[in-house]
Amino acid sequence: MAEISIRKVAKHFGNFTALHSVDLTIADQEFLVLLGASGCGKTTLLRIVAGLETPSQGEVWIGGRRVDHLPPRDRGIAMVFQNYAVFPHLTVYENIAFGLRMKKLPQDEVDRRVRRTAELIHIEQLLKRYSGQLSGGQRQRVAVARALAMQPDVILMDEPLSNLDALLRLEMRAELKGVLAASKTTTVYVTHDQVEAMSLADRIAVMHQGRIVQAASPVEVYRNPAARFVGSFIGNPPMNFIPAKKAGDGRWSVAGMTLDGPRASRSEIEFAIRPEDVEVAPDGVPITVRVVEPLGAHTLITSDVEGHLFRAVLDSTTTVRTGDRLTLAPKPDRIRWFDPDTTAAL
Ligand SMILES: Nc1ncnc2c1ncn2[C@@H]1O[C@H](COP(=O)(O)OP(=O)(O)O)[C@@H](O)[C@H]1O
Ligand SMILES: [Mg+2]
Repeated sequence: MAEISIRKVAKHFGNFTALHSVDLTIADQEFLVLLGASGCGKTTLLRIVAGLETPSQGEVWIGGRRVDHLPPRDRGIAMVFQNYAVFPHLTVYENIAFGLRMKKLPQDEVDRRVRRTAELIHIEQLLKRYSGQLSGGQRQRVAVARALAMQPDVILMDEPLSNLDALLRLEMRAELKGVLAASKTTTVYVTHDQVEAMSLADRIAVMHQGRIVQAASPVEVYRNPAARFVGSFIGNPPMNFIPAKKAGDGRWSVAGMTLDGPRASRSEIEFAIRPEDVEVAPDGVPITVRVVEPLGAHTLITSDVEGHLFRAVLDSTTTVRTGDRLTLAPKPDRIRWFDPDTTAAL
């Protein structure tokens, strides 16, 4: 059992606050992805869990034990970083064996674990090679194998695939998912890549400026963003936002449409819709198509609604040209609303 519990963890660097009282519990064997833009505090939080950084406030618990005063080696964790950190002057075998030898495991156990992990990660044919001679993708595999060979309760990964080219990243992503699911470890995986996050995670914790703004399943964060930031950060293209004015009786006026919405004391809120959740329909909002991008499976159009950028994903069989005028209507059950001050979902 290795549940991770992060309790009111804050981190200050001088008078800069990198983390504001973060609370997050990661279930035993869960694959949790920390997702956010560069600089939002992902690495700092991961390093605090690892013990490479001390929190300014708060506690970290792993497997029912408070660990924030323990050195990294006593926390039952293994780490994989973006820059691999494999030793170039050691063979692949010795790289994978490194941590096991530090733990003074008997040679036959070391050998068994190195060979089994190498097989799992498909590098058994490379065991005698020096790591300095490997490609980036192969070195990354060695780093993952070295972490798995430790049979840790928890694996922490910080952007482990970001130095790989696009195709290799896709391949490794699929493999990692399979291998980690089979290994029964609890995984915390940091990335700024929303597609990677969506494809890997049991649950995504979306970070913004040192806070976790939502922690939920990939489908939930996509469909029901808890805050405006989540809707604008996740999804490519992101959600569309248009100001809405109160029309009375729980109804809201949005670009000439009158829509049912939340009861709110405010007179202005924000309407939001994903680009794929609008349709060409007779009683919608008239727009002029500014840009047409045929993407194969779909056609993406860009226009504006009352001066706000508006994108729609249309069926690729729809014939549409720059300058065309269309009327677009939102699918009613897909509309979301946000408070413009707090940015929280209404
Ligand atoms: N040792 C440090 N000293 C001062 N500021 C730091 C230090 N480490 C990180 N920061 C700052 O904390 C913020 C979060 O950094 P980091 O956790 O590395 O972000 P991320 O991994 O999400 O890109 C950044 O603004 C960064 O500049
Ligand atoms: Mg980072």
